[in-house]
Amino acid sequence: MDIDIVGRIAQDVARLPPGVQRHIEAVQHQSLALARRWRFDETAAALAAQAHDICRALPGPDLIAQARSLGIPVTPIEEAFPVFLHGPVGAETVRRRYGLRDQAILDPIRYHTMGRAAMSPPEQVLFLADKLDPQKRARYPYFDEVLRLAYEDLDAAILCFLTGQMQAFLAAASLVHPGMLAAYNNLLLQRGGSLGGT
Ligand SMILES: [Fe+2]
Ligand SMILES: [Fe+2]
Repeated sequence: MDIDIVGRIAQDVARLPPGVQRHIEAVQHQSLALARRWRFDETAAALAAQAHDICRALPGPDLIAQARSLGIPVTPIEEAFPVFLHGPVGAETVRRRYGLRDQAILDPIRYHTMGRAAMSPPEQVLFLADKLDPQKRARYPYFDEVLRLAYEDLDAAILCFLTGQMQAFLAAASLVHPGMLAAYNNLLLQRGGSLGGT
């Protein structure tokens, strides 16, 4: 990995709000531990974690404007909740600003918030590490179960998180992002999922 890219990302991360920086540190820690557990490239996992929220602090209108200028599709859900765009805009920013071309780093950044169908193992690691920041423990009643599963079976950990999260969204009459639903359906299909009640 180009040492200059690593240094430039670190410089930009140091300019993010303190809360985002604390979160990034926690995500890096968990990503490294998971990469070690699953024998993935630790350098790539650490770098993806470090850069994953590089655009997290951008105001919504800026995220929408940047997505449009970068050719990233903006759906009505993302127009209503631009925060969904910080992963895709972040990945494209990392690619252009730092010249980083490694899809094994860019894709995890792009899909870290909501996931997608058929996530690669590095995508799964960053997705889970992002949710397993201890500061989010109170937000997710299934936090400890997801944490335990993350070290046993990545698919099961993600399915556990998505199930809990989507149940919470439905109970609160919240929108469900299509990426999350695609990830959920894909995992169920892999496991021979059923159409309950039909
Ligand atoms: Fe994020
Ligand atoms: Fe994050």
